[in-house]
Amino acid sequence: MTPQTDIDTTRKAFQADLAVVETEEGLQTVRDRYLSRKRGAIAALMKSMADADPVDRPALGKEANALKQEIEQAITEKREAITASTHPIGGIDVTLPGRELSFGRRHPLTLIREQVVSLFEAMGFEILQGPQGEDDYHNFEALNMPVDHPARDMQDTFYLEGSMPASDPSEPPATLLRTHTSGMQIRYMESHEPPVRIIAPGLVYRRDTPDLTHSPMFMQVEGLLVGEGITMADLKGTLVSFLRAFFDADTRVEFRPSFFPYTEPSAEVFISCVFCDGHGCAVCKETGWLEILGCGMVHPAVFEAVGYDPERYTGWAFGLGIDRVALLKYRVEDIRLFYSNDLRLLEQFPQ
Ligand code: DAH
Repeated sequence: MTPQTDIDTTRKAFQADLAVVETEEGLQTVRDRYLSRKRGAIAALMKSMADADPVDRPALGKEANALKQEIEQAITEKREAITASTHPIGGIDVTLPGRELSFGRRHPLTLIREQVVSLFEAMGFEILQGPQGEDDYHNFEALNMPVDHPARDMQDTFYLEGSMPASDPSEPPATLLRTHTSGMQIRYMESHEPPVRIIAPGLVYRRDTPDLTHSPMFMQVEGLLVGEGITMADLKGTLVSFLRAFFDADTRVEFRPSFFPYTEPSAEVFISCVFCDGHGCAVCKETGWLEILGCGMVHPAVFEAVGYDPERYTGWAFGLGIDRVALLKYRVEDIRLFYSNDLRLLEQFPQ
């Protein structure tokens, strides 16, 4: 064979080889077959020039070089074509494992609030939100706690320096941070006629020294139901169903007499300890019971404050501490963790 026929056959062989290449590995094999400095076909061609007639050598050498460039060019083009077809998005390698996205998660208090809200929503309650900056009238006075009422001391209030204009200019300015969500009872009844069936979740504030079970900011859910012929049996039935749906179908519920200025009679509700099932443990202080919420029949003075006829209407209300429930349900030991924004804690809750 002459060097000239060698060049022609090499070109043909290369074209045939290249035509069937589909992968980068395949292309690499073909490249090595032709362009490898030691074993490649081009290297062999160059060597064989030594046998050619010296007169033909320059022309043949040129031709062999041209073939070499042709092969290099064809391989580059093929490589780009392969890359484009396997990685169609602008040359990005979509086959590489992705970088893990870090998704935000709902805060444990948000999860509990959503669970409480959805259980009451299913019972036909309307969900309300209200201002955290509140005035004395809604937070205390209309709830049967006039100035100097000793019950105001039950709740250590954060007062605002000066005051904050209310979102509705016809309302008195906010002078304090609400100490409970009970003011939402007043806000709703002021602008709605019975029947009433609402719950109002939200943040509340008290001048408590932070410890395992106290935080100056925490979350409550207020509930209120008003109509004709509403009795304490309705209150008990609703709360027992809620607590059993929320905690456990076997949860035992106890109503114990208590005092709140805005309810009469008033009760504190206890559930059998979720940790020891009522046998007694450190969490329930060996009593077998956990206090879970305050409630009662709406006081007639509250109805009078909002212009409802207490002779015609009766109703009940309750206030539930979301943080306390979250501590129990998630077995977290320190309420302050809920407000520390520590991702190691926040990432632990089933969404
Ligand atoms: N406002 C009370 C508190 O913050 C909770 C409460 C008790 C709300 C009895 C009520 C109620 O509506 O009837 O401790």
